Amino acid sequence: MCGIVGYVGPKSTLDVLLGGLRRLEYRGYDSAGVSIIAPGGQLETRKKAGKLDNLIAEITNHPLPIANIGIGHTRWATHGAPTDGNAHPHLGGPTSKLSLIHNGIIENFGELKAELAAIGTKFASETDSEVAAHLIAREFETTGDLPIAFANVVKRLHGAFTILVIHEDQPDVVLAARRNAPLVIGLGDGENFLGSDVAAFVEHTKRAIAVGQDEIVILRAGSVEIRTFDGTPVTPVEFTVDWDASAASKGGWSSFMAKEIADQPQAVADTLMGRLGSDGSVRLSEIDGLSAQDIKDIDRIIMVACGTASYACDVAKYAIEKYSRIPVQVELSHEFRYRDPIVTKNTLIVAVSQSGETMDTLMATRYAKEQGAKVLAICNTQGATLARESDAVIYTHAGPEVAVASTKALTAQITAGFLLALFLGAGREKVSTTELRRLGHELLKMPAHVTEVIENLDLARKLGKEMANAKSVLFLGRNVGFPIAMEGALKLKELAYIHAEGFAAGELKHGPIALIEEGQPVIVIVPSQRDEDSLHPKVISNIQEIRARGAKVIAIAEEGDNQVADYAEHVIFVPQSESMFAPILTVIPLQIFALELSTAKGLDVDQPRNLAKSVTVE
Ligand code: M6R
Repeated sequence: MCGIVGYVGPKSTLDVLLGGLRRLEYRGYDSAGVSIIAPGGQLETRKKAGKLDNLIAEITNHPLPIANIGIGHTRWATHGAPTDGNAHPHLGGPTSKLSLIHNGIIENFGELKAELAAIGTKFASETDSEVAAHLIAREFETTGDLPIAFANVVKRLHGAFTILVIHEDQPDVVLAARRNAPLVIGLGDGENFLGSDVAAFVEHTKRAIAVGQDEIVILRAGSVEIRTFDGTPVTPVEFTVDWDASAASKGGWSSFMAKEIADQPQAVADTLMGRLGSDGSVRLSEIDGLSAQDIKDIDRIIMVACGTASYACDVAKYAIEKYSRIPVQVELSHEFRYRDPIVTKNTLIVAVSQSGETMDTLMATRYAKEQGAKVLAICNTQGATLARESDAVIYTHAGPEVAVASTKALTAQITAGFLLALFLGAGREKVSTTELRRLGHELLKMPAHVTEVIENLDLARKLGKEMANAKSVLFLGRNVGFPIAMEGALKLKELAYIHAEGFAAGELKHGPIALIEEGQPVIVIVPSQRDEDSLHPKVISNIQEIRARGAKVIAIAEEGDNQVADYAEHVIFVPQSESMFAPILTVIPLQIFALELSTAKGLDVDQPRNLAKSVTVE
C-alpha cells in the first residue's frame, strides 16, 4: 500500500520524485524517502518518518545535488514501526551502493534474513524490504550484471512486491520488478518514469504501460525493456491516460474529499455517458468479452469487494435481482476467498474496486477464475491489475480519487451497478422495452439530482459540525437504504474515529434497539413515500420506536415527504427520484456529515490515521 516513483531523464529528478510522491501520498503516509545518484556517481538518500512535508524539510536542511536518476517512496508500515530507520529507501551491500524501495510484503523474509545474518550482514531497519536490498547487492557482487542479479533475487521472494532499485555502479538505469503489487511505466521523450499508478507521472506524460505479473523493467532515459522473471522479452502494450494532472489536484478545495464530493454529478454523468440509448437500450460494449450465450447461461452472480465498494455491491444486488431475476450474493472478498465457496462455470463474478489493486479482491477473483467462473470487473482505474485479469470491465469514469475515504467512486460504482442490472434485465428479457426506456430516462436524470443535493447541503454541514462531540452515531435504513446506512457509519469511523454502526431498520427490535438511550443520535434513510413498495410506513414506525426511547433522529428523506417531519428533529431532503436509484442521492449528506464532523474535530480528512487508499496487502 506504499507509493513508489522512479525517474531517469534530464529533468530535476528531485522535483519529479517529490511531485510524484505528493500525488501518491494517499497510498501511505507513515514516512517518505528518496535516493538519487548525482552525476559524479554518488548515491544520496534522505528519508523521514511522518508525512511528505517532513521529508521536504529534511531535504531543505540537507540539500541533495542535481541528478538525472532517482527513486522515491511513501510508506504504509507493515514490518517495523513508522520510524526514520524503517523508512524507505533501504541501502544494500557493505558499501551501501545500492538503494531499494518496496511496496508489499516479502513473506519469506525471515528465512532470507537468517541466511544473511549467518554471513555477518548487519541490518539498519526492522523491515522485510532491507533483506532484498542486501541480497541484490551481494548477488551483483557475484554476477557483475545488475539485471541478472536483480532477477535472481526477485525469483526467490515470496509474497507481494513492487521493487525499484538503483546502484551507484550503474548510474543510468532503474530496475523494477512486480509480483502481486501495481507498477506502471510512463513513457517520455528522452526520459522515462515508474509509478505505483499513473498519478506518479501524469503531469509529465500520458503514455503508459501497465507492467504484468512477474515482470522486470530495465528503465533508461532512452529505452524501456521488459522481461519476465525468467528473462523472456515482453512486448509492451501502451495505453493513454484519459485524465490530466489537474483532475488529481485539490483545485482550491479545502480537501480532496470536499472536491471529490463535489465531482459527483460529473462522475455519475461520465459513467452513464454513451451507455443508455433513448430507445431504452443499454450499451456496455466493454462486456463484449461475455457473449449473449454467456449471459443467458449465468445462474448466479457473486459480487466481491471490500469496504465502501462492497456497499455499492449491496445496492446493485437489489437492482440486478429485481430487473434480471438472477440471484445475487454479495461477499467481502477476503471472506469469499478463504471459505471454499461454491463457484461454477455458470457463476458470474462481479468484482468491484475503485483502485483495481485491492489484494483481497484480486485474490478472490483469481480463485473464482481457477474454478472456471467468468469475471466482470467494475473498476475506476485504467490499466489496473483487476481490469487486466478480468474477462470484461465496466469502467466507472469518476476520475482519480485521492482522498482515502471513497465518495465519487462509490456513486459511480452504484451507477455502473444499475447499468449492469438494466443490461442483464434486457439480455434475459425480464424487463419490457417500455420499462427499460423509462428506467433509463430516470437514470439519466441522476446527475442533475446529484447537483441539486450538493447545492443544498447546509443542514448536513451544520449538523456535522454540531455533533463533533458525539461518542456514537447510529444509522438505519431498509432495502437500498440499508447499505447506505452502513456506508454512513463507515465514513464516520474512518474519518472521525467515533463509534458508528449501520443497521437494517427491521433488525432493530432483534437487538440493536438496546443501544438507544436518551440523546443517542440516529440517522435514518427514509424511503420514498410515493412508492407503494418502498416500506415508508415501516421506517416511520421504526423511527417512532427509537424516538420513544430517547433517540435524536435526523432523517434523510425525499422532497414532498409530508409525514417525516413530525417524527424527526431534523430532515435533510433530497430530490424525488426512482426509488431504486435514490442511494446515489441519500449517501451524499452522509459524506458531508462525516467530512464536517471530522474537520470540526481538527482531523485530517484526506489522510485518516492507520489507513491507506489502496489496500495492496491481504
Ligand atoms: O480500491 P477499492 O475500491 O477496492 O477499495 C476498497 C476499500 O478499501 C475502500 O472502499 C475503503 O473501504 C474506503 N477507504 C472507504 O472509504
